[in-house]
This record gives sequence, structure tokens and C-alpha cells, in this order.
Amino acid sequence: MTKRVVVIGGGPGGYVAAIRAAQLGAAVTVIEQEKLGGTCLNVGCIPTKTLLHTAELYRTLLKGKTLGLQMDNLRIDWTALQNRKKNLVTRLVKGVDSLLKANEVTVIAGKASLTKTAGVEVNGESLPADIIILAVGSEPVKLSFPGSDLPGVIDSTEVLSLPDIPKSLVIIGGGVIGVEFAALFSSVGTEVTVVELASEILSVTDKELAVKLRQELSRRGVTFRTGASVEAVEANKGMYCARVLTGDKVETIDGEYILAAVGRRPRSAGIGLEAAGVAMERGRVIVDQHFATNLPGIYAVGDCNGSVMLAHAASAQGVAAVEHAFGETAAYCAGTIPSCIYTTPEVASVGYTEEELQRQRISYSTGSFALIANGKALIEEGQSGFVKVLAHSDSGKVLGVHMLGPRATDLIAEGALAIRVGATVDDLITTIHAHPTISEAIGEAALATKNLAIHLPPKRGMKGGPE
Ligand code: NAI
Repeated sequence: MTKRVVVIGGGPGGYVAAIRAAQLGAAVTVIEQEKLGGTCLNVGCIPTKTLLHTAELYRTLLKGKTLGLQMDNLRIDWTALQNRKKNLVTRLVKGVDSLLKANEVTVIAGKASLTKTAGVEVNGESLPADIIILAVGSEPVKLSFPGSDLPGVIDSTEVLSLPDIPKSLVIIGGGVIGVEFAALFSSVGTEVTVVELASEILSVTDKELAVKLRQELSRRGVTFRTGASVEAVEANKGMYCARVLTGDKVETIDGEYILAAVGRRPRSAGIGLEAAGVAMERGRVIVDQHFATNLPGIYAVGDCNGSVMLAHAASAQGVAAVEHAFGETAAYCAGTIPSCIYTTPEVASVGYTEEELQRQRISYSTGSFALIANGKALIEEGQSGFVKVLAHSDSGKVLGVHMLGPRATDLIAEGALAIRVGATVDDLITTIHAHPTISEAIGEAALATKNLAIHLPPKRGMKGGPE
């Protein structure tokens, strides 16, 4: 009998799960309360990266002379850029809609909820389902301090559609969202201050990458306050004045806007999950390794289970959940999920960080290759970057790859594949990388784990180098 699959949420977790279920022969319905594509496509990855692309291009072109370009009167047309962003988003949302139609997936507009008997209800009607996939996503965490509800205190959705380029911006939170917007607005001339609670930005990123990115952003004028928090915000003549506490030092920093980027939380409230008996913990839906909840036939994928809040992880979980529900052998390899930050320079990581390896007492060797010795990186002005390969000391298996530099977010796929197939540094070394490309640095970093990099002077006294 044809299985009836109902997917709640049409973001990258939900719509991909729906297509996979249709491929497996199910009768599939997706219910979406806003727009197909979810946060990622509408108010996340795609619009942010569209704005970042132009902002970084602008910053690069401003240095025209060093690139052999002569330009007069270069400026940003913010309205045209906002329109480009809207058009791109609309085009991609339509693409998702067409794909769902092509797979004969029914799309219902409305807010779905679970009934007390764990059925699905939408627009006052109940929908029969054999399998339910919850893919309801997340929303920005709201801070609560005096003044946090002022109109100038905005979140990562509102900041995407500002009417003009702000003169100044205070960003609360130096996580992925915070640094991406710091890069974006500092590139277009906004005075940016990032206030981060922890002692370093990007707390889950490899420390060396985080430090280097902070230095790069500082060099272009971003001010950082680490170990700091915003205690209160006051409105003052069209500006917002943030009271920032760093240790026991208090200062006030003005911003045309105050952007709160302090994390996201699962959007799991008010849709009947508790009443239906779905097990939850602080808003996140608890799932097993197959993304199954405690209730039979109900799965939760993507941000709402709170495991990894990334679009590509949500899609992979959607596929894995559906395949498990259909009795297929699903392969979900969490260790291959790349983490990418779309600043310039780009930052990308996959696998273990050095800090994790040290915590878990796994013995490893490190090979680093600075992009200053890579011709293509110099051409692309990526000389401040580096590639770091972490390998198991005994087996030589690749445990982690961390990169900072041009197109790191694309190049990291090689590291992800290496981890997926259990490749060793020798596999990376004997894979021939094209010249001139930045990918050569991956092979060189792998060689550097043995002190054998070709384009680096050998480290004296080390294995592989001169005595
Ligand atoms: P995050 O968890 O990455 O960073 C939040 C930061 O705010 C942390 O460093 C935290 O220490 C700091 N913080 C928390 N409370 C604070 C306070 N009161 N004052 C100052 N700092 C405070 O969260 P973020 O950046 O909001 O991103 C949310 C989610 O979206 C993350 O899971 C992220 O991975 C995902 N995302 C991924 C992107 C990508 O892959 N390129 C882009 C944007 C978001």
C-alpha cells in the first residue's frame, strides 16, 4: 500500500525529505506556513550570501589599482542590491515549488499542528499520515535587557532588509551570523562593533581559524569586544546607545542599529508537540540516530532537533529519516558535515578541531600550509590564509581539515570526502591537484604532517627534515 508521508515545514530539511519520500513511492504532502525554502532560502543563507557577494566584490574593487583596474565613482546601489536579493530568492523558491510539483508532492499553505492522538491538522482539517516528518526549523534567540524591545534592536531577518546602508552597527554575538554581518557591513562602509560574551569569537570553530579571522576583520576596521555583554540599550536622537560591560569596565557604544545574533532556538512551541507526547528538551525535539522521535512514525530533522543547525545537515537528516522510515539503509555521516563561514577570507572546517582532539586525547599530527606560498592564492589576494590538515598519528587517517582563504567553502569538500572514505594523508598527497589552484595547498598541508611540504622550508630536526 502507498505510504502517506506528511512533512511539516518546507525548508531544506522538509522539502528534501519530501522529494526523497516521493522517489521511494510515497504519497507526500508538505505543509508550509510561510514560504517554501525556509529560513535558509528566504531569510538566511541565500539572501545573506547575495549581499555578502556584492559587498566583498565592492571592497575588492575599491582596491582597484593594486589589481590593475582603474575605476571612478564606484558605489553601492543598495536598492538595486536589495532587488537582486529579492529576485534571487524568488527564483530559488519557485525552483523548489517546481521540483515538488515535478515529484507530485502536494503543498498545503497553512500552519500545521499535531493533534492529541499524534495526527496532523492544518487549516481546521485533519490529514491522514503513516509517517510524519517534523522539519519546523528555528528562530532567533531574543535577548532580554532594558531596551531590547526598541525598534532599532533587530535580528538577523530584519538586518537583511535595512532601507539604507547604516553608518554604524553594534552586533551582539560573535558567532557565525555575527561575523558574517560584520564582514558584510564593514565592507560597505559601516562602522561595526562586535560584542561577544566568550573570550574568543566563533567558539566552536578551530581556535587558529577564529583568531586569524578576528585579526583579518580587525584589520579592515571591525572593533571587537570579547568577554563582553550588552547590558542595556537606549534610544538617543535616532541612534541607539549600547551599554557594554567588559570585565568591570563599562562603556557606551553607539549604533544606528543593534543586531542581536546570539544563536537560534528550535521553533517547536505552539504546534501541539507536547500534548501529542513528543519528547522534548528545552524546546528541541529529542531524536535517535535515525532522527526518529519517541512516537512511532514521527521523525524530526534539521534545526528543530537542535543537533546541527545547518541547512545541508537538515537536508541530509531529511533523507536519512525518510530512508529509515522506508526500511532502507540510510547513511548519515555527521563527521562529514562541513562548517562554512562566508566572510572574506572564507573559513571552512570539517571533522575534528585540534581542541576536540586534545580533549578526547586522540594522538594527531598537524600539517599547515600558508597560502602566501600558493601562487593562485596570491593572484586572488588570499595570502593571509592557510590550510591545516589533522591526521591520526598512527594510521595517518585524516581527522580534520581547516581552511581560511579564497573559496575555502568550496574546497572543503575534498576534506569532507577524505573523512567519508577514511582517506589517509597519503591519499591526499597522491591525489594530483591542478596547478595553479588553491587546492594544491591541501596536498601541501597533508605533506606538511610529515614535514615534507615541497613549497615550505623543512622544519629542522623534525622527521622528514634535515637533522
Ligand atoms: P552562534 O551560536 O553561532 O553564535 C552566537 C554567539 O553569541 C556565541 O559566540 C555566544 O557566545 C554569543 N552570545 C550569546 N549570548 C550573548 C550575549 N548576551 N552577549 C554577547 N554575546 C553573546 O549563533 P548565531 O551566530 O546566531 O547563528 C545561529 C545558527 O545559525 C548557528 O547554529 C549557525 O551555525 C547557523 N548559521 C550558519 C551559517 C553558516 O553556516 N554560514 C550562517 C548563519 C547562521
